[in-house]
Amino acid sequence: MRYLTAGESHGKGLAGIIDDYPSGVSIGIDFLNEELARRQKGFGRGKRMSIEKDAIEIISGVRKGKSIGSPISFIIQNKDWCSWKEIMDINPTRSNDKDLKNRLLNPRPGHADLPGFLKYRPDDIRDIIERSSARETAARVCIGGFAKIILKLMGINVFSYVSQIGKIILNKDAVLNDIILTEIERSEVRCPDKNTGKKMREEIIKAKKQGDSLGGKFKVIATGVPAGLGSYSQWDRRIDGRIACAFMSIPSVKAVEIGDGSNVSGKTGTKFHDEIHYKSGTGFYRKTNRAGGVEGGITNGESIVIGAWMKPIPTTAIGLHTVNIRTKKSDKSLKERSDICAVPSASIVGEAVLSIEILNFIQEKFGRDNMEEILENFNCYKKYLEKV
Ligand SMILES: Cc1cc2nc3c(=O)[nH]c(=O)nc-3n(C[C@H](O)[C@H](O)[C@H](O)COP(=O)(O)O)c2cc1C
Repeated sequence: MRYLTAGESHGKGLAGIIDDYPSGVSIGIDFLNEELARRQKGFGRGKRMSIEKDAIEIISGVRKGKSIGSPISFIIQNKDWCSWKEIMDINPTRSNDKDLKNRLLNPRPGHADLPGFLKYRPDDIRDIIERSSARETAARVCIGGFAKIILKLMGINVFSYVSQIGKIILNKDAVLNDIILTEIERSEVRCPDKNTGKKMREEIIKAKKQGDSLGGKFKVIATGVPAGLGSYSQWDRRIDGRIACAFMSIPSVKAVEIGDGSNVSGKTGTKFHDEIHYKSGTGFYRKTNRAGGVEGGITNGESIVIGAWMKPIPTTAIGLHTVNIRTKKSDKSLKERSDICAVPSASIVGEAVLSIEILNFIQEKFGRDNMEEILENFNCYKKYLEKV
C-alpha cells in the first residue's frame, strides 16, 4: 500500500491517494471521521481546531460501501479557507500594498521556515509554512484509518497514550485494559493516570501564560500482531527500521524507541532479553516484552511498543531571535496562530503511521489484492503458529 498526501494548511483542503488497498473491505466513513476528530482534540491546541471539523469525502476507489481495489482518493475540506481565500488565491494577482504588508519575513527557529526559504526561494515565508504545517497529518490519520479497518478484521488493534508533557512524566507504563483505554480517550491530554493528567494540563496552562510551548512523549502499542512480519535479509526490509522512519516523519518527533529502547544500554544481556516459553496450543511466547515485539527486524508475536519524543512547538507567543530575510536585520520570529502543545494529537498520528506500516508488512506476507484472500492466508498462518 503506497500513499501520497497533498494540500496547504489554509488552502481549499487536504487530499490523499492510497494505492494497492485490497478490494472487498467495508469502509466505515463514521469511523474515519472519528479518527479525524481524535486528532483534533487535546488540551493545548490552538483556536484553529475549534474552527475545523474535519470530515472525509471519498472521491474514488469505494463503491456501495466497499473498496474495489482501485486507488482510493479523498479530500478533507479546510473550513477556514473562506477566511484565507485572498491570501491563498491560486490565480495570478498583482502585488498590492496589503499583499506586501502581509508577507512573512521572520523565520521561526525550529520550523521549516529558514531551510525552506533557502531551498525554494520564495519572497514570502507563507509559501513554506503552508505545506510544512502539521495540518498534513490529518490526511495521514485518514489513511491510517483505512489501514486500521483492515487490521481490526485480523484482530490487530493499535492504541496510544501520552507519557510526558514538558517536565511532567507518567512514572510507569500503562497496562492497557478497557478501563484504562476509556480513561485515555476521556483525558484531555490522553494520559492514563488522572493525577498526572491534571499536572500535564497545569503545565500547559503555565507555558501558555509564559508565551511559551511544550513537547513531550507518547507511546503507541499494537496488539495481536503475528510473528513473522518484516525480515533481516535486507536493511530496508526490517520492520523496526520502517516503523522508526514512519515515526520520525511525524513533524516535531525527534527520537523513537522500540520496547525499552532508551533504557537498553545499561542492562546486561540476562537482565534485558525476553526469555522464550512454549505452551501447547498457543505456541511460543514471552513473559516480558522489553524488545517491544521485534527481534532481528521481524515481529516476534508480542505487542509492538513504540515510544516517540516530540520537541516543543516552534511557534511561541513571545518569539525567538531571528533575522528578517529581506532586511537581514535582527527581529523576533513570526507569529502564526498555533498550538502550545500537540503531544496528544501526535499520539493519534503515531497510531496512524504504525497501522500503515503494519498493514504494509501484512500485505507483503498475505497478499494485497482481496480481503477474503488475505484473511484466508492469515488464518492459515495463525494455525501454523499455534501448532509449530
Ligand atoms: C499534531 C501536530 C500539531 C502541530 N502543531 C503545531 C503548531 O500549531 N505550531 C507549530 O509551530 N508547530 C506545530 N507542530 C510542529 C511542527 O509542525 C514541526 O515542528 C515543524 O513542521 C518542523 O518540523 P520538525 O520539528 O520535524 O523539524 C505540530 C506537530 C504536530 C505533530
